[in-house]
Amino acid sequence: MKKINLILITLVTSFISLSTLSKASNSKESSRVEKHANAAEIFTNWHFFENGRGMTISPNLSRFMWMLGEDPQAKEFKKELIAKKEYENKADFVTKFISKKYGFVIKEEKLMGVFNVQYKQMDVGVLGCTACHSGKAAGVFVPGLGNKTIDTYAISRDVGRIQRFWGWGNRNEDYKYIHEKSMNFAKVTADENISSLTRGLVPDSTIKTFFYKDHGIDYPKDMGRAQVKAPHLWGIKQKRSHGVFNDGSLSGDSYAWIFGAELFASDSGEHLRAVLPKIKWLTDEVLGNLLPPQYPFEIQKDKVATGKVLFENNCMKCHGEHQRDQNGHPLYLAPKVIPKHIVKTDEEKLKAISPEFIKLVETGSLRDILEFKEENIQKGYFAPKLWGVWSRFPYMHNGSIPSLYEVLLPPSERSAIFSMTDAGEEYRFDKERVGLTLFNKNEYKRKEREAKRGSREIYWIKREGQSNQGHYFEKSFSKLTHSDRLALIEYLKTL
Ligand code: HEC
Ligand code: HEC
Repeated sequence: MKKINLILITLVTSFISLSTLSKASNSKESSRVEKHANAAEIFTNWHFFENGRGMTISPNLSRFMWMLGEDPQAKEFKKELIAKKEYENKADFVTKFISKKYGFVIKEEKLMGVFNVQYKQMDVGVLGCTACHSGKAAGVFVPGLGNKTIDTYAISRDVGRIQRFWGWGNRNEDYKYIHEKSMNFAKVTADENISSLTRGLVPDSTIKTFFYKDHGIDYPKDMGRAQVKAPHLWGIKQKRSHGVFNDGSLSGDSYAWIFGAELFASDSGEHLRAVLPKIKWLTDEVLGNLLPPQYPFEIQKDKVATGKVLFENNCMKCHGEHQRDQNGHPLYLAPKVIPKHIVKTDEEKLKAISPEFIKLVETGSLRDILEFKEENIQKGYFAPKLWGVWSRFPYMHNGSIPSLYEVLLPPSERSAIFSMTDAGEEYRFDKERVGLTLFNKNEYKRKEREAKRGSREIYWIKREGQSNQGHYFEKSFSKLTHSDRLALIEYLKTL
């Protein structure tokens, strides 16, 4: 009897402890998912406009939108939508057209990263972080993913043209302050000497212009573009202390570089100082909670184990571990920088951190908060962690390789041109190679001519800073067979 009691008691207690354990882990599970959802909500609604400062377009954004509806390209697009029975009303159409033309992502009928802020009885058009830092992949909206289609050059070129006219005659001081700043913002971003050459790429050079202005000198027209794709932001909390941006040459200790994209739009560094506490909070407490997106289609489970072994043997020495917690969520670790003579990808971006630039920063008004990570200057690129990598195409810091499959091919066999149009939509997603679909044989020649004529819709590897060489490690990659590559891809889909 005693024995039975004992057994019963042990059973009951172990049942209780088991159930509390699983409850605890369930609530932990939900808390991480909840934190992600919260972070996504906060980040997608965030902008740094304050006291008239920030990335703005001239007051009365709505008028800009209205005028765009009259654009000849808009009329074509309207016909297309009507034919597809997707035309609803003018407001909806204008939103869709702006998204198509300038690459803003639409979520719940709103343009991501575009805000209309009421300020001193004006409607100010404000750009937020998510214009670049939220995107779509295979038709799925992903908070914290780089926007694949954003065209900062085209936005500023057109905004500049239109703003010039409606600024006339307005003598209100508050209006003039924002208007002039917006005009300068548009001028710098649309400067053909330093802007990006392809949609989806963002030029770091625009950030550099701030430091010339800071010293009261004109920036040199031949300073380069340093075009990069906007990076994914999950895992940034762990990465930050090892250096920010794709080469890690900028110190993340003060968080101040994270404001880089806004810096050149402001009239002085005071804006950065004012918002620095919020940037710290946003980086660690908000972005730090983002999870990578899960692969939205079927994964061939039988190949994953083979792929994992291939990954451990061929990739892990650079890309490192991808461990999970007990609920299967990533345990983020910092990536490490691989020297340029080893990875051999395009070096143009590394040159942006030139001795001249370093000196401007170190003698400028923000020298106490903007620091470099000396050991990483012009050294190489981070081998990024591959969480959510299925969604991050086109690949490499300059977005020069359209699919995971091609990442594993010799550079000579990779695509020289591919389309960036609707790059995040489902119809552009190639499930087998994981990445962008390619031009078919019939249209190739014509598309190549368009690329040579400068089409911003087409990625062309012959453009400055857009080379697709490198990241081919002869010894290991040359041994991979077609089915090895497919197995590796199945494993990468699980990250
Ligand atoms: C115009 C597009 C654009 C906007 C707007 C923008 N960013 Fe970025 N951001 C980039 C690009 C491009 C990089 C990568 C630069 C590089 O690696 O050379 C970057 C890098 C970063 C990084 C570092 C990522 C890493 O892996 O090291 C963080 C964090 C970040 N941005 C946060 C923000 C925040 C917060 C805002 C809003 C204040 C913002 N960004 C606005 C384009 C943008
Ligand atoms: C010798 C070090 C090294 C090895 C080995 C290596 N990589 Fe990389 N990988 C890098 C570096 C460095 C980058 C970033 C290069 C750049 O952006 O220019 C990178 C970038 C990538 C990217 C692009 C990520 C993105 O978001 O654009 C993918 C995908 C990738 N590697 C997959 C692999 C796979 C799969 C393997 C193994 C088959 C592998 N790598 C082996 C160093 C390495």
